Amino acid sequence: MITKSEHYKRMIKYWNSQVKVSSVFKNDSQIINKILEVIHKRKCKNILEIGCGFAQDTIIIAQKSGCKITCIDFSPKMIEKAKIHIKKEGLEKQINFILDNILDIKLKENFFDGVIAKLVLHHLFPKDDIILACKNIFRSLKPKGIFILVENWANSNPSKYETLAFQLSQRARKIKGIKEVFLNKDEYLKVLKKIGFSNIKWAFIPERIELNRYALNEILRVDVEKTKLNFPRGKIKNLFIIATK
Ligand SMILES: C[S@@+](CC[C@H](N)C(=O)[O-])C[C@H]1O[C@@H](n2cnc3c(N)ncnc32)[C@H](O)[C@@H]1O
Repeated sequence: MITKSEHYKRMIKYWNSQVKVSSVFKNDSQIINKILEVIHKRKCKNILEIGCGFAQDTIIIAQKSGCKITCIDFSPKMIEKAKIHIKKEGLEKQINFILDNILDIKLKENFFDGVIAKLVLHHLFPKDDIILACKNIFRSLKPKGIFILVENWANSNPSKYETLAFQLSQRARKIKGIKEVFLNKDEYLKVLKKIGFSNIKWAFIPERIELNRYALNEILRVDVEKTKLNFPRGKIKNLFIIATK
């Protein structure tokens, strides 16, 4: 059984190593458009983004919304790369970075209009850490502030393609010695309600995923190719939640 501190050590190492392969800027994402729509509707000005990676979403959100964004990520390499992108786009005054684990950081209370956590909470381990992070997010929001949560593999009724893609992702993670914790939609709703969030809305948004990133070794590569061939238009449904403080 892996300890919590060993888990986070491995995760930071893993995400540092992912910098080399994380380079695709996709600005046509349905999810990003939905995030922008919510930010605009709720008139957010001051946003916190958790697990920003190399800031591919951050840049689009900053440019299209004009919001000030604080980004947190615990991978020094991701933040290093994010800062290069931000500088290239001339967004240094609008975006600032904090290198830390969302579980360790003491966030300002009642401060942000919105918090975004896209594809990050499943990296927390064990499950109680997901709850702790959500409590930390709740405290950091102003009253009526919004939490935008996006998670994959939260669909309890997956299609054949989703099941195969999930299995590939898990086999690839196992090879890397990485653990992930997936809550389904109902579990997330329950956690958020218990913390005190209200007016919780959710949807599943289908998106394509890049299966090639799971092709770590020969066996996986063959299965990735087979899956791509059998499901050339395969999409996975990402859980999209908006919750209000
Ligand atoms: C799958 S990437 C998502 C990046 C971006 N949000 C997106 O959707 O493209 C997950 C990111 O979260 C970061 N991360 C994972 N666990 C974290 C934690 N406990 N605290 C801070 N950052 C974390 C990783 O370093 C990585 O950059």
